[in-house]
Amino acid sequence: MGLGFMVSIGEILKGRHTGKVVELRGWIYRTRTVGGKAFVVIRDATGILQATISRDAVSPEAFQAAEKALIESAVVVHGKVVADKRAPGGYEIQSDDFKVVHFAEKFPIQEDLSEEFLLDVRHLWVRSQKMTGIFRVRHTVFGAVHEYFREHGFWEVQPPMITPAGSEGGATLFEVDYFGRKAFLTQSWQLYAEALVLAMEKIYYVGPSFRAEKSRTTRHLTEYWHAEMEEAWVGMDAVIRHAEGVISQACALVAEERVEEIVALGRTPEFLKAVKPPFERMTYDEALKVLKAKGIEVEWGKDLRTLEERALTEGKSKPVIVTHYPRVSQAFYKARDPKHPDLVLGFDVIGGDGVGEIVGGSERETDLETIKKALLEQGEDPKAYDWYLDSRRFGSVQHAGFGMGMERLIQWICKLGHIRDAVPFPRTPGRFSP
Ligand code: 4AD
Ligand code: MG
Repeated sequence: MGLGFMVSIGEILKGRHTGKVVELRGWIYRTRTVGGKAFVVIRDATGILQATISRDAVSPEAFQAAEKALIESAVVVHGKVVADKRAPGGYEIQSDDFKVVHFAEKFPIQEDLSEEFLLDVRHLWVRSQKMTGIFRVRHTVFGAVHEYFREHGFWEVQPPMITPAGSEGGATLFEVDYFGRKAFLTQSWQLYAEALVLAMEKIYYVGPSFRAEKSRTTRHLTEYWHAEMEEAWVGMDAVIRHAEGVISQACALVAEERVEEIVALGRTPEFLKAVKPPFERMTYDEALKVLKAKGIEVEWGKDLRTLEERALTEGKSKPVIVTHYPRVSQAFYKARDPKHPDLVLGFDVIGGDGVGEIVGGSERETDLETIKKALLEQGEDPKAYDWYLDSRRFGSVQHAGFGMGMERLIQWICKLGHIRDAVPFPRTPGRFSP
């Protein structure tokens, strides 16, 4: 071996090496021997391909190895690429040499296994075609988000992960023992963004956030990736346009670069290409009317739950934006609506298929006394936020921003039933291993 040149399965499936002698490295996905022929389906990071190893075309040792090797053995195959309609993907390799790099033990993942078992062996399940397809979409979505903000003049800056105080309410704070003192894992870059935005004006960040969410739902993780942006001198409208822009750019790039992956997951490229701005907008009050017409009564002031978000997006192929939420139950930093002081200039972008809130954002309150009052109303001690309040003491200007759950976005793009599959090793209330 070593005479053919090394190729990937993805390239073969695109028809780039037909008729050529190549060498391929990978893992056995499926294998069976019929008479004098071993049909070994091999996977690499780019796809799966069948290699046919005939007893009379290879050395006796090579044939024996092909017969003996179990699923997930690491192999090198050498041979000629031929187009064959009967083979999965339309191509196969007619092997003239075959080598096993590592004989795998009996692989624990066979057919029809429970979700719980697959989570126990997540470190092996990440090799599946379903998971690797999602990971490739995730790669593309992350790339698109960075591209969008950089193209629009935002600086990438990083907040700390260990923090002295939260910004999204005490109930979901993860406590850390910081050498005997109490610290918390970050829920959002919120407080740091509002300090940095007065330095850098247009900023973004993509990194982990932590929420001690005890609720077991199909859309909550305890550790998730958060894409956040903050911009000075603008209000809510400008950042809503960025939310629409970044979501549609991610959808467009996936529709262009990840067609096979999303089709296998049940989304079409046409669906994603149609996700263009503007998205439908309605105020919270209008949303309550829409819900009422569907027979769902929501008491004014209550947050919208999964049920309501599902009803609002029913039959819609683009996300829906709800603005002007009641101030009660909203974070202290959100700006009052000057026309209706009981509302905030805040918004959520809501995705369909039960994914719900993908983005949450707002214009920020600029008045020092109003924020202090809001902190007190929420049972917080303004002293713990004193450094943050300096952003309202030294050159306070109008600013706005949002946070987008990357796994929520990926869950929606890939039409996943559960958010845990949007990330390789999910962290949920019941599990932090493997
Ligand atoms: O709505 P949230 O809590 O807003 C903030 O944290 C703001 N400080 C963001 C900002 O303005 N910079 O969270 C923002 C987004 C949500 O819309 C949701 O997509 C995601 O983060 N998110 C979660 N994703 C997965 N699991 C969880 N437990 C999540 N909690 C929030
Ligand atoms: Mg929110």
